[in-house]
Amino acid sequence: APLQTRNTFGVAARAPWLVSVDDARALPEALAAPPLREGLALAIGGGSNLLFAGDPDGAVLELSGRQVRVLDDDGERAILRADAGVPWHGLVMQSLEQGFAGLENLALIPGTVGACPIQNIGAYGVEVREFVHAVEAYEPGTGQWHRFDNAACAFGYRDSRFKREADRYLIAAVEFALPRHAAPKLDYAGIGEELAARGVSAPTPRDVADAVVAIRRRKLPDPAVLGNAGSFFKNPIVPAAQAQALLAQYPSMPAFRGDSEATRKLSAAWLIDGCGWKGHRDGDAGVSAAHALVLVNHGGASGAQLLDLARRIADSVRERFGVAIEPEPRIVGARW
Ligand code: EPU
Repeated sequence: APLQTRNTFGVAARAPWLVSVDDARALPEALAAPPLREGLALAIGGGSNLLFAGDPDGAVLELSGRQVRVLDDDGERAILRADAGVPWHGLVMQSLEQGFAGLENLALIPGTVGACPIQNIGAYGVEVREFVHAVEAYEPGTGQWHRFDNAACAFGYRDSRFKREADRYLIAAVEFALPRHAAPKLDYAGIGEELAARGVSAPTPRDVADAVVAIRRRKLPDPAVLGNAGSFFKNPIVPAAQAQALLAQYPSMPAFRGDSEATRKLSAAWLIDGCGWKGHRDGDAGVSAAHALVLVNHGGASGAQLLDLARRIADSVRERFGVAIEPEPRIVGARW
């Protein structure tokens, strides 16, 4: 099965099989029968955090269930349950329409509900881990169903147990705990300005989502127009002393608090920009002219060409700043 339309980079790749399972309860049966019995390479959602640097060596599985249900609602907080195949942005908008707050800063992130906990998607000062109540997953290796509560997901910055143990679990559904009333989070650069420009002084969650959508449309290339997978690199977390030394040399360098006082999160975009990569192009593999963190496929780039460009970018950042940057998307068919 061709996978070119199943990854937002739009690179060509093929899998021996592409199997879609709508009802997650049928997973054990589907995995025990051909073609999945012959070997499952990976599960795929929206294909928006994925680089096919080669062909997957087995079947590709898509969990396509799209049900959304409110499980519990006491007027203050609701539990919303969504199947893995629900498109993420659709869930955000649906939750806002039902009067639930929380997900508005995460509007317009590509991908599916099933993928959202894997890399703990985040944007504009919010990470999905703040709202994940539980994750339901099947473990093909043992034939067991699991229900992971928030702590058991072991979330970190763009990280979780599901990312650390890739392919061990198949995520079937996610439950979100969403407040009816919550103060909007407007501290991340740009949101306050965008709302002010729109003349909004007491923003509703829906206003915040609209502002985020506008900012993202300006800053990030639309994968439907120009192939990309959002940020290609994670923002590197370095010891505070290393950040200090860099700041002494580059006073305008952005640096944020890391997971602890001992670390700082640097801006991969700024480091890459500083090496002159923004707008760079090698054939059809390139770096977005709008955002240095986004690799783009101008049409005919292969996954291997994009990976090669990514490696050269990381090498140059290491040489110039002494900082190692790591890819955010999953790379299939090659090692980083
Ligand atoms: N910057 C540059 N050059 C550029 C772009 C940005 O120097 O070409 C600098 C700016 O000075 C800015 C800083 O980089 O202060 C940060 O840029 P931005 O606010 O765009 O955020 P980011 O750190 O590059 C992260 C997430 C995005 C998320 C935005 C907004 C990661 C890896 N990326 O990007 O997530 O949308 O913040 O919250 O954490 C994604 O994960 O795919 C993604 C798009």
